[in-house]
Amino acid sequence: MSHPPDTACMDSLDAVWADIWPRLVRGKADRRSPLHTLSVGTIAQGGRPDQRIMVLRAVDVVASTLRFHTDARSSKVRSAADEQPVSVLGYDPGAKVQLRLSGIARVHCNDDLADAAWAASTLSSRRCYLAEPGPGTEIAVGDAGLPAHLVARVPTASETSPARAHFAVLVASIDSIDWLYLAAAGHRRARFATDGAGWSGRWLIP
Ligand SMILES: Cc1cc2nc3c(=O)[nH]c(=O)nc-3n(C[C@H](O)[C@H](O)[C@H](O)COP(=O)(O)O)c2cc1C
Repeated sequence: MSHPPDTACMDSLDAVWADIWPRLVRGKADRRSPLHTLSVGTIAQGGRPDQRIMVLRAVDVVASTLRFHTDARSSKVRSAADEQPVSVLGYDPGAKVQLRLSGIARVHCNDDLADAAWAASTLSSRRCYLAEPGPGTEIAVGDAGLPAHLVARVPTASETSPARAHFAVLVASIDSIDWLYLAAAGHRRARFATDGAGWSGRWLIP
């Protein structure tokens, strides 16, 4: 369900700020929300920008972080060490709100955060990480790379054990947010940035 911005967002930066993070929290919680899947952009090897759709797995409003799950062998993880600039983009057509967020992404593979995310993930979502070889590897014929006996059924918990080594959590620490609202009465655009101590916002011409 899309929530259009409050009318106060037309002239109050505080109201715009109050629109942003709850919108992301709802996007995370609602699988049907257009903000449940976001475009995540990184800089690939060779310096080209690259982006892909990822499921928004967690939003920490206090820490200003977004969490995504991925395969540690995928190019978005390999393309940098464990810290890289990240851009996150979403558009909610029902609300007519575009969110462009950027910051630094950190990858967690072998720590408590990754262990907890793995423990909380469903068996069907763990199955993707059983693919051999890893994502992006060229193969002769189209195939998911999964063990044949698991293509058509959800694995048991013990069958997912080998997949844990491939599981990674990507945490995007957001330090800049561009909010755009398309309104018949005149579009509105605001940018918020943090220096780590607190957020401040400015209006921009859309
Ligand atoms: C709706 C949708 C949701 C997706 N969710 C994820 C996800 O949560 N994590 C992920 O790694 N890839 C996800 N993907 C696949 C990625 O878009 C991408 O194809 C894959 O991760 C390989 O990307 P890379 O080569 O840039 O690493 C999703 C794709 C779609 C279409």
